[in-house]
Amino acid sequence: MTTSGTGNSADEPLFTITRKHLNTGLRGFPVGTVRTSRVDPHTGVSYVGYPVGDLAFLDPEAVVYLMFHKELPNEAQLADFKAQLAARADFDASGLHAFLSSLPRTGHPMDWLISGLMYLGMTGKTEDYTEDALNLVARTPELVAGVFRQRSGWGDPIPSKPELGLVENFVHMMGVPGADETRLRRLLRTFYVLHMDHGGGNLSTFSGKAVASGLADIYSSLAASMAGLSGPRHGRANQNCLNFVRSVGTTDPDEIEQLVRDRLANKQLIFGFGHAVLRAEDPRATIQYLLGQQLCADDPLFQTALALRERAVKVLKENPKIANPYPNVDAVSGTLLNASGLTDSDYYTVLFGFSRIAGISAQIVDERLNFRGGKGVAIYRCSFKAEQQDARRLS
Ligand code: MLT
Repeated sequence: MTTSGTGNSADEPLFTITRKHLNTGLRGFPVGTVRTSRVDPHTGVSYVGYPVGDLAFLDPEAVVYLMFHKELPNEAQLADFKAQLAARADFDASGLHAFLSSLPRTGHPMDWLISGLMYLGMTGKTEDYTEDALNLVARTPELVAGVFRQRSGWGDPIPSKPELGLVENFVHMMGVPGADETRLRRLLRTFYVLHMDHGGGNLSTFSGKAVASGLADIYSSLAASMAGLSGPRHGRANQNCLNFVRSVGTTDPDEIEQLVRDRLANKQLIFGFGHAVLRAEDPRATIQYLLGQQLCADDPLFQTALALRERAVKVLKENPKIANPYPNVDAVSGTLLNASGLTDSDYYTVLFGFSRIAGISAQIVDERLNFRGGKGVAIYRCSFKAEQQDARRLS
């Protein structure tokens, strides 16, 4: 059996499906077309053709615009888009905060985020995918800042100032006790851009688009995405990564090399290294190492992360079975968040989700409204072979 896709001709086979492909978590299967981003195993992710490194220090809103419009905005377009997002962010959030305050602190921050997304949908959805997507992007800072403040017990919600800008307002509303807000803003602006999208096949994106294909609204679809992201094999890996870097307990490269060898001998994971698709250092990690040099070069955990970058790669490369021994996006992100005042790693996946909501929402808008001449992608239904067999039995 063959499957066809985005080659020159619609009938051109992409590859042959064999029994070996079954139960592999859809590895290697093209599911659909994606216009927002592309992941190259060697050069990493690009957004609408721009390598992520070229976008990392742009205004976050410019990159959100790119996701939705498939081109970067000029100055006037950017100003207009920022004003639009600010207007969408200006909503009565008192019900949202009351709802958040009723949630149990035993719930993981991702549980809070998912619940909050459903609340926003129940109180604000319009049933128009583009409207809902842009409203959601604009209102996520209020939700995520609420999750941080209320669950951490930092105090009452801080009134929103949408005119500050999406990430700047988020930092303002979080009001992280003791944080250097200038450093946090610089970090989170780039963090937001780097985590926004990663092709269409990762679990959270795939799940959200699958749920939306049944015509569920953006809020439920993104809640499903975030449930996907919350797993330790996906987005929650960034939380485990900082815990791993903390557990290393030294900045000495030789001790670190030994520790990596010992962990591998004991079949323990080296968090932050390897990736399902990438076969080189993730450019999102490269940018974050660079940012770390600027923001927190002397921080001991950052020193540990740098030594791991050198020594873990060296040791992992010795094993020919390891397809990718290089750092991924999570290798150093937690270290930078920690050095900027966000010290509780339980919240890191929420920050990942905060950003990924923009990319996935843009992909859902494409699937629902733009593909197949505006008809939208069909409802996801994977049992092609079984249907064929049923048809044979019935005939
Ligand atoms: C990532 O950002 O690296 C992903 O969402 C994980 C993946 O691509 O599978």
